[in-house]
Amino acid sequence: MAGPRASTADRVAADGSPYPDRARPSFEHDVRAMFTHIAHRYDWFDHLVSFGQDFVWRPRALWALDRFRDHRPVHRVLDVGCGPGDLTVLAGRRFPSASVVGADFTAAMLARAATRHDLGRFGPRLRFAQASAMHLPFRSASFDVVMSAFVVRNLVDLGAAFRELRRVLVPGGSLLTLEITEPTSRIFRATFHTYFDRVVPWLGAAVHSAGPYRYLPESLRDLPGRASMLAMLADAGFSRTIADPLSLGAVTSYLAEAAPSHASP
Ligand SMILES: C[S@@+](CC[C@H](N)C(=O)[O-])C[C@H]1O[C@@H](n2cnc3c(N)ncnc32)[C@H](O)[C@@H]1O
Repeated sequence: MAGPRASTADRVAADGSPYPDRARPSFEHDVRAMFTHIAHRYDWFDHLVSFGQDFVWRPRALWALDRFRDHRPVHRVLDVGCGPGDLTVLAGRRFPSASVVGADFTAAMLARAATRHDLGRFGPRLRFAQASAMHLPFRSASFDVVMSAFVVRNLVDLGAAFRELRRVLVPGGSLLTLEITEPTSRIFRATFHTYFDRVVPWLGAAVHSAGPYRYLPESLRDLPGRASMLAMLADAGFSRTIADPLSLGAVTSYLAEAAPSHASP
């Protein structure tokens, strides 16, 4: 029996702003339209809704990544869905002899990344490229570290995306994925849901636009939990998978190693 038919027309909020719907064939296109729409204000709104905690999460995750790797040298880093480039630049500082690429499929985010940081200090070893996480324009086994922050809940097929991230990692290379997650503390969970389901959409509509901040809690509901994420990483060819909850689990840093035995296509 045929399932419900998704309209190909984009879903928009009452104020006309993009409001992606995972059930629609246009989902990927709509996610990009949404990030194009919010690119110029993304970073400060991110600081606001996270109460500045995002300034802690990214460096903390990179520190944990370095430990996870036993401080092995890092030569090539890829930041997928780099947005305005905060994690990309932090990685450039953390690994001072590495070449670092920030990749994103939204041109407006890359334009923001190019003007937001003092990139001159990195010279040619740090650059940005327009690319989709689902089809990375890089050769297999070309990075020691692949990372992504607050991206995976937007991906059309998470299993396929993890396999693509695995493909571009050298065997023994490391994956870091940061994402908003269900808090570990039951008491905090109720506050978390009220905040993301009610406060953030209200605040987003008040200071910016409605669609993206109504989409945010929906995208969190659709995201697999920590245990399922670890299982998906293992299925995609990763070993030593770890979920490290930060801020009482409101954000989780996932770490994994590209399993040497996994055949790269
Ligand atoms: C929530 S922002 C996170 C940006 C940045 N990583 C950070 O830490 O703030 C998500 C970013 O992922 C990008 N993105 C979403 N889906 C993507 C895909 N399929 N391929 C490449 N980039 C994608 C968006 O354009 C956006 O810049």
